[in-house]
Amino acid sequence: MDKSNFRLILVTIALCTTKGDNNEKNATCLYGKYGDPFILKCINNTNSTSWDGPSSQSLTVFGETPYAHDDEIVPELPNAENLLLVGDFSAGEYNLMVINLTHNEEGYYKCNAIRGKIPYEFRYFLRIKVPPKKLTTNGRNGILIGKAGEEMHITCNVERGVPENETMISLYFKGNVIKKTFAEMLIYSFVPRKVNNRDIFKCAVENLLLDSPLEETIRLKVLYQPSVRFDKNEYNFSVYEGTDFSITCFSDSNQVTTEILWEANDTIIEKQIQHLEHLPLNIANIQQHHEGKYTCVAKNHLGIGKKSIYITVECCQVKIETTNATVIVIISVILIVTIFLGVLIFLARDDLSVDNQMYQSRDDTADNETTVHRHIGAEIQDNRMDLSGGSASYGCVNAQGNSALNYAEIIFTPGPSESRCVVHGKENMTIYSDVVLPVASVAVH
Ligand SMILES: *[C@@H]1O[C@H](CO)[C@@H](O)[C@H](O)[C@H]1NC(C)=O
Ligand SMILES: *[C@@H]1O[C@H](CO)[C@@H](O)[C@H](O)[C@H]1NC(C)=O
Ligand SMILES: *[C@@H]1O[C@H](CO)[C@@H](O)[C@H](O)[C@H]1NC(C)=O
Ligand SMILES: *[C@@H]1O[C@H](CO)[C@@H](O)[C@H](O)[C@H]1NC(C)=O
Ligand SMILES: *[C@@H]1O[C@H](CO)[C@@H](O)[C@H](O)[C@H]1NC(C)=O
Ligand SMILES: *[C@@H]1O[C@H](CO)[C@@H](O)[C@H](O)[C@H]1NC(C)=O
Ligand SMILES: *[C@@H]1O[C@H](CO)[C@@H](O)[C@H](O)[C@H]1NC(C)=O
Repeated sequence: MDKSNFRLILVTIALCTTKGDNNEKNATCLYGKYGDPFILKCINNTNSTSWDGPSSQSLTVFGETPYAHDDEIVPELPNAENLLLVGDFSAGEYNLMVINLTHNEEGYYKCNAIRGKIPYEFRYFLRIKVPPKKLTTNGRNGILIGKAGEEMHITCNVERGVPENETMISLYFKGNVIKKTFAEMLIYSFVPRKVNNRDIFKCAVENLLLDSPLEETIRLKVLYQPSVRFDKNEYNFSVYEGTDFSITCFSDSNQVTTEILWEANDTIIEKQIQHLEHLPLNIANIQQHHEGKYTCVAKNHLGIGKKSIYITVECCQVKIETTNATVIVIISVILIVTIFLGVLIFLARDDLSVDNQMYQSRDDTADNETTVHRHIGAEIQDNRMDLSGGSASYGCVNAQGNSALNYAEIIFTPGPSESRCVVHGKENMTIYSDVVLPVASVAVH
């Protein structure tokens, strides 16, 4: 805005707002839309009414160029054709109408009327409405940079146009108005946090003369110092000697992390200045002397972030992973051994009535056969009984591959007493070996 414009606006404000003081600046401001008709009103029941108006020839504020007297427009006026007197003339009412408001009609008007013997004077300042323009913000290319924890200010500026108080600036965040003003500048102050990085604000200017609001968006860039985290959720680690240990440190920062490093007992052991987002710590074949505090430190130009873990090294043990599957296997093995012991005790008790069944585990009824059962996948290395030293025709070879059953039964053809069978559990484990089967009598079950 150049200086002459600025002065004009000051004058205008003075002219339109000074009220009650007895000088010629006491005028009422009126606003009309360009191209629209506009009526300036005087009073009725007058004996005579005359109008003065603006003139391009006159440079004084109140040029007092005669425009009309009673029902007659001054014919010499260059814009005479754009003017009309309206009202109830018979009641002494002479209002001045501008047919099509242009810049020629913008300016000061004065109506002098006489009612009875009393003179009246009314002063107006008629202005053409101007829409607001030039909405600007303090964002550079729409981006406003600040630091987490430090106050930031969003400003929106607009040339409000005419009249000024019909232009409203609103600041939107996530679809809601968070601040608004009729002033020419809106200032919103806040303290951003890390999470506000990339937040988007919108300045909008509304005015009836605008088909659509003026809008500018501002995207925040909130800078913050690094904060570090690990790919594991604990901070104290107990590691067995001889095993490998690894953990990765991640840095989150804005702007970029310039350096990331690992310290052991406060001494730098690993440093990275190229791939900056993360840095692993790998300790192969961990030994007692590796115990201690390990700290990941990340830096950027705003500051540093760090976090420590503690490693203790446990001696000489092999850690067993206890899973559900292994528990099931162990329980099955115990069960099978118990059943076999039971069978053996039963066999030892009565040599004459030998049952040719060995209850390993299963829960369907035994088949009434004396031949070897191969009903469930004999090739599967599962619970099975192998013949050793005896002839295959007397085989006590059997297998029971359905681990879903809670017990199994091995049926065998009685062979020579020297037949020796080995009972295997799952995973090739020997459950019971050298089962000597006495064959005193053969009972077919
Ligand atoms: C100035 O305006 C006020 C109200 O707007 C009015 O009361 C006062 O009489 C006016 N003074 C003159 C000198 O016209
Ligand atoms: C009003 O006057 C301007 C300038 O003389 C002209 O361009 C425009 O067409 C006129 N508008 C109407 C509605 O008469
Ligand atoms: C004259 O003006 C007064 C108020 O200013 C109004 O009440 C009255 O109706 C007007 N009379 C006519 C004939 O317009
Ligand atoms: C002024 O008007 C009043 C009535 O409105 C009338 O009585 C009076 O005679 C008029 N005076 C002049 C000078 O026209
Ligand atoms: C603007 O200000 C004028 C007086 O200065 C007032 O009459 C008008 O109602 C105001 N408009 C708005 C939209 O506030
Ligand atoms: C982790 O270990 C350190 C040092 O051995 C100890 O000071 C700290 O209390 C431990 N923290 C937890 C959560 O166990
Ligand atoms: C860290 O300090 C402790 C105690 O002084 C020491 O036992 C350990 O070996 C040190 N660890 C490393 C990696 O330097």
